[in-house]
Amino acid sequence: MDINEIRKQFPVLDQQVYGKPLVYLDNAATTQKPLCVIEREREYYLHENCNIHRGVHYLSQMATEAYEHARQTVARFINAPEAHEIVFTRGTTESLNLLATSLGHLLFDSGNNTSHLSPLTSHLPKVLVTAMEHHSNLVPWQQMVKFYGGELLVAPMDDNGVLDLQAYEDLLKQGPQIVAMAHVSNTLGTVNPIKEMIHLAHQYGVLAVVDGAQSMAHLPIDVQDLDCDFFVFSGHKMYAPMGIGGLYGKTEWLENIPPYQFGGEMVDTVSFEKTTFNKLPFKFEAGTPNVGAALGLETAIQFLENLDRSAVEAHENLLVKTTMEKLSTIEGMRFIGQAPERSGLVSFIIDGIHPYDLGTIIDKMGVAVRTGHHCAEPVMTRFGIPGTVRASFAVYNTLEEVVVLVKAVERAAMMLR
Ligand code: ALA
Repeated sequence: MDINEIRKQFPVLDQQVYGKPLVYLDNAATTQKPLCVIEREREYYLHENCNIHRGVHYLSQMATEAYEHARQTVARFINAPEAHEIVFTRGTTESLNLLATSLGHLLFDSGNNTSHLSPLTSHLPKVLVTAMEHHSNLVPWQQMVKFYGGELLVAPMDDNGVLDLQAYEDLLKQGPQIVAMAHVSNTLGTVNPIKEMIHLAHQYGVLAVVDGAQSMAHLPIDVQDLDCDFFVFSGHKMYAPMGIGGLYGKTEWLENIPPYQFGGEMVDTVSFEKTTFNKLPFKFEAGTPNVGAALGLETAIQFLENLDRSAVEAHENLLVKTTMEKLSTIEGMRFIGQAPERSGLVSFIIDGIHPYDLGTIIDKMGVAVRTGHHCAEPVMTRFGIPGTVRASFAVYNTLEEVVVLVKAVERAAMMLR
């Protein structure tokens, strides 16, 4: 893999900030976009822009076809059996809000009889999450169970950021109807054993929702092999534009859960008395979608597919390993998250130094990292810290950039002591 060639596709990387070459290590927040993705969106707006599923005219039909082709590409990329099992959303957060709201209505609204769908008996929700969720995969569930007077269960992790699988199974025995789990933690980098977790969930009749926000760009995803009921992701963390992402769901569930938003396109027939809803996946896509971004997402997938994915994984793992090795020589260094199965990022703090101060100083040296709680405040509470400094990697990062990061951290630590 020629990283320099790959970098040429990301013009944004080739710039100076504060007179220093930019070292962009905030990829878990959002990746940069390759030229092919930028061009695809531009092309759409230059020559193809049109509302879809609505027009008989040429442009509308072409745009509709392109959008549906993008859906097929997403389905193929994660090995979903049917394209109609892919719902385009604004991203992970919207996908999870959709699920929490609509599964809530299906399973817990009084009067709903869902016994034909699952062996669920209780009518009060219990949702199981892990201790390492970011707010997107925590707050929607927390608010849903609160609304229905139910309970949120939390599977704990150890000091290395490894999930306690025994405790997870014990909590499954407490009768949650849904488990929602991060594939990869955005704060610790932990890769959870989701296949095993999904299998266990199903043994106890529990629906399994996987948050793939931090995994799609780094690891191969096969929803059939995982056998998850739902899988959600964001485009912008996998080289695609912002404002597009997706929700995969098994047909049986998508057929049965009610729509999340109402309006045009998601309807079949409408009268003042009654509305019937469109078939899958359109029932979940109210209003005009972000067509240009969906086409950009398709191109981002093609960009990833054109790379040797196992070489990408090996490269990113090398960046993580080297960063940890080099940073570990700094006095007072403490890594937050040291699970053996890791992906994409390194989180750390240095004794006596606030992560925000460190991040602010290394920014002036051209190094972009994220500092703070990374939208995962309970993780910080678990480790008793105000936040971390997080360096997160993408395919275009280099070992030279790791050296710049480490030198910058060393200098900042000296200045702050
Ligand atoms: N969830 C994103 C992050 O980890 C925004 O930075």
